[in-house]
Amino acid sequence: MKKNLVIFGTRPEAIKMAPLVKAFFNSKEVFETKVCITAQHREMLDQVLSFFEIEPDYDLNLMKPDQNLYTLTADIITSLKPVLEDFKPDYVYVHGDTTTTMAASIASFYSGAKVCHIEAGLRTFNKWSPFPEEVNRSVTGRIADLHFSPTTTSKQNLLNENIDENQVFVTGNTVIDALNFSTEKVNSENYSDSEIENLKMLVQSGKKLILVTGHRRENHGQGFINMCEALKNIAESNPETQIIYPVHLNPNVQKPVYKLLNEIKNIHLIAPLSYPAFVWLMDKSYLIITDSGGVQEEAPSLGKPVLVMRDTTERPEAVEAGTVLLVGTNKEKIISETDKLLNNRELYNKMSLLHNPYGDGNACSKIVKTIANIKQ
Ligand code: UD1
Ligand code: UDP
Repeated sequence: MKKNLVIFGTRPEAIKMAPLVKAFFNSKEVFETKVCITAQHREMLDQVLSFFEIEPDYDLNLMKPDQNLYTLTADIITSLKPVLEDFKPDYVYVHGDTTTTMAASIASFYSGAKVCHIEAGLRTFNKWSPFPEEVNRSVTGRIADLHFSPTTTSKQNLLNENIDENQVFVTGNTVIDALNFSTEKVNSENYSDSEIENLKMLVQSGKKLILVTGHRRENHGQGFINMCEALKNIAESNPETQIIYPVHLNPNVQKPVYKLLNEIKNIHLIAPLSYPAFVWLMDKSYLIITDSGGVQEEAPSLGKPVLVMRDTTERPEAVEAGTVLLVGTNKEKIISETDKLLNNRELYNKMSLLHNPYGDGNACSKIVKTIANIKQ
């Protein structure tokens, strides 16, 4: 029996690890699997756990209001010691590029467990963008024993760093597994969701819906001010559009967004949505403006154009396919590219083609099979 410990801490990690946890639970004859959450996020993490019906075995409950990277990193490493010593996993699974990912990799390496990195090999090659994620995932890549890359591009990035090809597996991104799980559950008989019912009342038919999210640390401060000024301009010059913005709970996001956008008639600032409600809203939207990583991966599968408020992306596949356009946090650029998408049908149609560069929804079963086949 192989002992697995799956560690995560934030909303996107939870969404992308949930289908993997379920896949391991479905292989109980091969694996004993436990889940540890750092709770780097609290409310936004609990929303995901509740939808996917996952009860963690260990909850480190570390989130503090307006936390900083120094204490969060130290707290995660220190708090994981007793968990790793108690369960003694053979394999630890970490995801992506958050502080939880990087700190949990270091702690797991200290424990002697094999570290498996899910969503491995994404790179912008600019250590300040996204900050601190580019360095987090590079450190994790250096530590990991097994790398599960979503695409051949991300695999190649690892090979270029002299990682042994036998340790890298291209699986697709588990976010597509999560998206499929969510769609299936929402469409099942007896499923009811009050958040989706509320959204049905909020979304105005006949109006083009622009969905907005944002949270990146390098955009805090002037970046968010520019973004809010752009959204204000778009809303006021296009009264036939409706902007819905579920605002991330980070106080560095909440403060400028509520201060600058609260009073505008066709902008609706709402609390972060549960995963199925957010997927429902993405599907209803005309276009998405975001700096999120996960949303860039989900949108092509839903055929939605995305303007990404970043100067770099570690997800070039959707840019190459034409669904995603980088606009940075330049106010004029956000306004002009939104304008084009609202008014130029040909361009809109080109950017809203359905395609799946991030996988076929079977990433988790590929990961489970790979680990199951390893001889102890
Ligand atoms: C974190 C990750 C980022 C990831 C993002 C996903 C790091 C350094 N950053 O950024 O890579 O893309 O999550 O959303 O790992 N808060 C709450 N409730 C919550 C969540 C956050 O109140 O459920 C508030 C708290 O005041 C917290 C603050 O937001 O201290 C910042 O959270 P933190 O995880 O440090 O940064 P994020 O911006 O969420
Ligand atoms: N998401 C959600 N509710 C929201 C906004 C986003 O469930 O109100 C989901 C979204 O579908 C995606 C993930 O959260 O899967 C992205 O999280 P975030 O943007 O916070 O982090 P990133 O992907 O940038 O690390």
